Amino acid sequence: MATAAQRIDSTLAPHARRLDAARIADLVTADTGRPRDFALRVGGLYASFARQRYDRDARDALVALGDAAGLRQAVRALFDGVTVNTSEGRPALHVALRSALSQAPIARDAHAQAARARTRMAELVAALEASDVTDIVNVGIGGSDLGPRLVVDALKDFGTGRFRVHFLTNVDGSDAQHLLKGLDPARTAAILVSKTFSTQETLLNGAVVRDWLGGSERLYAVSANVPRAEAFGVAPERVLPMWDWVGGRYSLWSAVGFSIALAVGMAGFEALLAGAADMDAHVLEAPLAQNLPVLHALTAIWNRNALGLSTHAVLPYDERLALLPAYLQQLVMESLGKSVTPDGDDVGIETVPVLWGGPGTNSQHSFFQALHQGTQAVPADFIGVVSPAHPYVENHAALLSNLLAQTEALANGYAAEDPQKSYPGNRPSTLLLLDRLAPRSLGALIALYEHSVYAQSVLWGINAFDQWGVELGKRIAGELLPAVRGDGVAVDDPVTGALLDEIRARAARG
Ligand code: F6P
Repeated sequence: MATAAQRIDSTLAPHARRLDAARIADLVTADTGRPRDFALRVGGLYASFARQRYDRDARDALVALGDAAGLRQAVRALFDGVTVNTSEGRPALHVALRSALSQAPIARDAHAQAARARTRMAELVAALEASDVTDIVNVGIGGSDLGPRLVVDALKDFGTGRFRVHFLTNVDGSDAQHLLKGLDPARTAAILVSKTFSTQETLLNGAVVRDWLGGSERLYAVSANVPRAEAFGVAPERVLPMWDWVGGRYSLWSAVGFSIALAVGMAGFEALLAGAADMDAHVLEAPLAQNLPVLHALTAIWNRNALGLSTHAVLPYDERLALLPAYLQQLVMESLGKSVTPDGDDVGIETVPVLWGGPGTNSQHSFFQALHQGTQAVPADFIGVVSPAHPYVENHAALLSNLLAQTEALANGYAAEDPQKSYPGNRPSTLLLLDRLAPRSLGALIALYEHSVYAQSVLWGINAFDQWGVELGKRIAGELLPAVRGDGVAVDDPVTGALLDEIRARAARG
């Protein structure tokens, strides 16, 4: 049986060769139906793949690849709670946090548990709303930070205004110092969010905040390890559960989104979930050729494996989505940054590109020079919002015109007499347009990326739900801690030893 890598190679190589010299501008000119036929609308979301460097035949081959890789069945398996996270022996049922699209007992049970936790969360939200608390501090890192942080920031136009919501993340004590000095412990509640409740950063910052609060009365926790949260000093009635069947980076839909519910209210949180559920129904039901997350994933595979492009930019033309690239860095790179299959074999093909990006138009005045004239083509997702939530009509027209101009310039390029003023063009991009940025459309957008990541993992034959790559550094940091504290412990590595000597000498000098 062909491996995932062989299947990708044999399907895409002939088209990659055939299109080797193809130019996006020529593909568009040659195929007048392309702007319409390479676009898809799903609810409040519109996607155009018309500026990708593939034609109809290559796109059909990609869809056939998805079929041959068993994408349809793999998506069904995800919803049915099959053990897709094989290295940790568990399902990845984040979809059950927002959708009831499976009859499988494990998925139905997960959905029921999520609903019960949401009811408890709503009670805690109501109690906090009725209290004299003014500020909320979410203490967490990775998936216990990036999702809630993105959503709270993106939905600031939908905030109830009841609380100011802050995020404390970095183990660097200056993060705690600067945040806490602006807050009143008597009017602040803290939520310690940690799936494992064993994450060093969160436990250290949690202890700082617990001491600063001077008691546990306004201390809350969200964790899959409830006993550990309680042992930390959080009262059982203020601990909300999550479960090992939700990956940290897929968890904002659970009680990990407590800070979101406090920022936008329970109704806003439910609307976010409803938007994700819209995308869940779509990915499950739409034929592969009209399936937005599937086409997004197949396009990523094309750019990575057929065109050999090693980075990918995410460029939201909406300041409220400025944190999206940081959120997607974890979602995409922690999920797909793998080089072996679940059987331990070399995956045999390039996997995750480096994901990076920033908001437009700011980024136009920093790294866009390299996008236009650098030696590497960088495929990009441009994201725009049609109707703004502000009255500054001229600003919005300028924003949209810049968005359209950049995708056009990157694709078409420009030949000038002076090579320094020429633009090679032929740089692929996808354009995602939201009718408006609201809880429901944001939920759908995030779920689109989640499903695209899963589809890519299936196509590459890797596990999207573990992250063993982060463990080695954590272990070494734990081993080095006594030496850094100055406990006189010798270290094995000579370079680390020399660096520690240098640190000690400089610290002694003050
Ligand atoms: O170090 C990586 C990681 O395990 C992420 O996958 C996770 O989102 C983050 O740490 C935080 O973990 P926890 O929620 O258990 O504190």
